[in-house]
Amino acid sequence: MHTSAPSPSLLTWADAHGQPQQALWHSEAGRPAPQRGQCADDRMAADRAYRLVCEGTALLWQGDFFNARHLLDALKRRVDQPRRSGKKPSAASAAAGASHAPAAQFHQQRQKQARRAQLLGSLLVLVDGAYRIPLRRAPDVYAACCAAWGEPGPEAAPRVLALRELLGIVSAYEWRKSGVPIAALQALGGYDRIHPHYGVFSPVRGEYVDLVAQAPLPVGAQQLAWDIGTGTGVLAAVLARRGVAQVVATDMSPRALACAQDNFERLGVAAQVRVVEADLFPPGQAPLIVCNPPWLPVRASTTLEQAVYDPESRMLRGFLAGLAAHLQPGGEGWLILSDLAEHLGLRTRAALLQWIEEAGLAVAGRVDTTPRHGRAQDASDALHAARAAEVTSLWRLVVR
Ligand SMILES: C[S@@+](CC[C@H](N)C(=O)[O-])C[C@H]1O[C@@H](n2cnc3c(N)ncnc32)[C@H](O)[C@@H]1O
Repeated sequence: MHTSAPSPSLLTWADAHGQPQQALWHSEAGRPAPQRGQCADDRMAADRAYRLVCEGTALLWQGDFFNARHLLDALKRRVDQPRRSGKKPSAASAAAGASHAPAAQFHQQRQKQARRAQLLGSLLVLVDGAYRIPLRRAPDVYAACCAAWGEPGPEAAPRVLALRELLGIVSAYEWRKSGVPIAALQALGGYDRIHPHYGVFSPVRGEYVDLVAQAPLPVGAQQLAWDIGTGTGVLAAVLARRGVAQVVATDMSPRALACAQDNFERLGVAAQVRVVEADLFPPGQAPLIVCNPPWLPVRASTTLEQAVYDPESRMLRGFLAGLAAHLQPGGEGWLILSDLAEHLGLRTRAALLQWIEEAGLAVAGRVDTTPRHGRAQDASDALHAARAAEVTSLWRLVVR
């Protein structure tokens, strides 16, 4: 299998009958096309496949689809529990392992995850221009691919992608169909599920949604509120269900905008909420402006992580810097933020307070909550101490 210059996204190979084939490289995660690859089928033993992917060789699967899934599971077991080599760890790796600084542990964990994703992402499959997988016992992925990529055009080219990514698209589609129950929406009455689209931040943690459901609305907010970076639209929907007459929900991601609109329609609040593509704020002013930016100020290593990681706290700082100019007199900005970054040594409380001060804002109050999700209780998690101490807050910000 070759990546052809001058178009590095075109892969070429010979099929089982020796016929030349080609397809576009597709990686939602933004990974580059593999430099080296070969075809693999049901005869490939897991140990050999593991050796090849560790050496940087991608495997384009030509066998039975179920066997590809089994091979992926076998690779996972090998990646997660590398066999003992009998060698002593080097001084450098021992020192790295001994680092207990939370920020170092966090970065080590991300590096491990990135390496895992790279290895497991080396088992590839072809999806043709009509979103079919030309393999024995392959599932019908048409609807899931349409949901993630849109309808295929008449000239749609075949694409090669990681099997793991394709399985992610299929499970995201199941999740989109079934939706996530939101306790705050249930408490407010009516349909209570949010249906996340592929690649959109999903509100699996309910505690921050409860904060927005319960904080007293400032004067004027019964008429108008904004939700900056709306994602699935969950916070805008909560505000609408609380009776806010008009909500403006912004985002920059086309998938988030489509997802939010879909949810507003399902929840019966579409007449109250306007979805606007904007970099942070829409034009004008509002008496209540809510924002839940990504909580961790680190670089996203894939495009799918962009709603989770906020390099250099760009969205957080942009929201704070622009808030005063967009608040109506007497209005409030509600910043939803966890202090996990502080426990991990990635941001300080002093820096946050300084940004608030520099933006001409004051803290009128803060409502705190603690995470209910399982990882906060998981003592085997390398970041347990930070996760167990995490507090999520709704900061009530006003113009000074
Ligand atoms: C952490 S998610 C929060 C989503 C949703 N508000 C929630 O609470 O579940 C952050 C969202 O902000 C969006 N976003 C990031 N930068 C943005 C910007 N400059 N302007 C508008 N939206 C942005 C992302 O696409 C993502 O949907």
